[in-house]
Amino acid sequence: MTESLTVRDNRTGQEYDVPIADGTIKAADLGKIKAGDDEPGLAVYDPGFVNTASCRSSVTYIDGEKGILEYRGYPIEQLAEGSTFLEVAYLLIHGALPTKAEYEQWEHEITFHTFVHENVKGFMEGFRYDAHPMGMLMASVGALSTFYPEASMIQDAENRQMQIVRMIAKMPTLGAWSFRHAQGKPFVYPDNELSYTANFLSMLFKMSESKYEADERLVKALDTLFILHADHEQNCSTNAVRSVGSSQVDPYSAVAAGIGALYGPLHGGANEAVLRMLRRIGSKSEIPAFIEGVKNGNERLMGFGHRVYKNYDPRAKIIKKACDDVFEVTGVNPLLEIAQELEKIALEDEYFVQRKLYPNVDFYSGLIYEAFQFPPEMFTVLFAIGRTPGWLAQWLELTQDKEQKIARPKQIYTGDRGLEFTPRDVRWA
Ligand code: CMC
Repeated sequence: MTESLTVRDNRTGQEYDVPIADGTIKAADLGKIKAGDDEPGLAVYDPGFVNTASCRSSVTYIDGEKGILEYRGYPIEQLAEGSTFLEVAYLLIHGALPTKAEYEQWEHEITFHTFVHENVKGFMEGFRYDAHPMGMLMASVGALSTFYPEASMIQDAENRQMQIVRMIAKMPTLGAWSFRHAQGKPFVYPDNELSYTANFLSMLFKMSESKYEADERLVKALDTLFILHADHEQNCSTNAVRSVGSSQVDPYSAVAAGIGALYGPLHGGANEAVLRMLRRIGSKSEIPAFIEGVKNGNERLMGFGHRVYKNYDPRAKIIKKACDDVFEVTGVNPLLEIAQELEKIALEDEYFVQRKLYPNVDFYSGLIYEAFQFPPEMFTVLFAIGRTPGWLAQWLELTQDKEQKIARPKQIYTGDRGLEFTPRDVRWA
């Protein structure tokens, strides 16, 4: 069977053969289709890239219809059950699971780089008392490029690895300090004897005790949440990292762009929005009225629906289970009852069934984060820490992909043309 597409341009009657490879055609091939020699080539209009592949990638596989998520070929359920976040980070970056020696070296390197330059502390203290921690995180990650100017040498493999280690290592420090700033509490330095996630909890919650020791069940639950967020192929923030990275800027600037994208309520900010929504609903008896409002288009059911998953998000299933482990330590979050009832009603409602809207990763994660006593503004910071290895794995792939070019979409121009400019003194006379 010939893997090609025959296109007939009814404007000219001409036929074109467009090769098909990997289930795609090259948009540039359509550019050869023209209504006349001086006319522009045919382009594809695809706001939000709903049906456009922007790269080849071997990092993450998703089958949205079946609800499958795999990192480097390993199912998310198995990684969440048996791995650690640092091991998953290694897997994403290096493409294979580490040997014992490789893991120990990786863990040592990440631990070694958790500290930030003292000047970072200085400028973080300069933020307003009520600064949103995501804004602080985005700014401080971007600022790291000024501390490591060599990061701009993105063609140098060793240099790239150095920045990757630094960024994964420092993200919890910057995230924790953004939190402490909003609380008016002193910054806590990293404790490198602790695991990645236990150290993060220590930097968040340590007060006057000489060593902060978090409950192991909480450490495990947060580590699992980081694993679940570690990558999700070409989502909005990863696309931002790749798009900005395609200009060959340093990885700190590219990841800062990803943090900006993640900040938005339709992406990473959804978990914060879910919690606010559950609070607003307030009680189970208010759910039917709320659902009616959603169906009438007044608002969205936050934490539901996904561009890719048209089935239960596999991450949501794992998180739902993690809720039980966390609530065993912290006591049950009273909003859980409302969330469960909301899920039940929505999954049976024709509106949601027809549109294949299921709970996504953010539906239950906010409840867990709240049980940890994180304020909602911190939820997306936690997402960002988890997503960092994914952003970097995708960025690394981009830097070595010979087919990649600077991201520069086309537009369909809808404005005026050829207007005559009249100077201000004439226009305002
Ligand atoms: N509540 C109510 N209706 C919805 C929802 C929702 N949460 N999501 C989609 N729809 C409806 C939408 O109104 C549309 O209906 P119609 O065909 O009648 O116009 C249909 O479903 C398709 O929606 P869409 O906006 O075209 O879908 P999309 O793929 O562009 O949007 C989404 C995906 C995640 C932005 C969207 O489902 C949404 O806004 N969900 C709520 C926010 C949320 O939970 N975001 C977290 C996503 S998961 C974390 C991550 O990976 O970033």
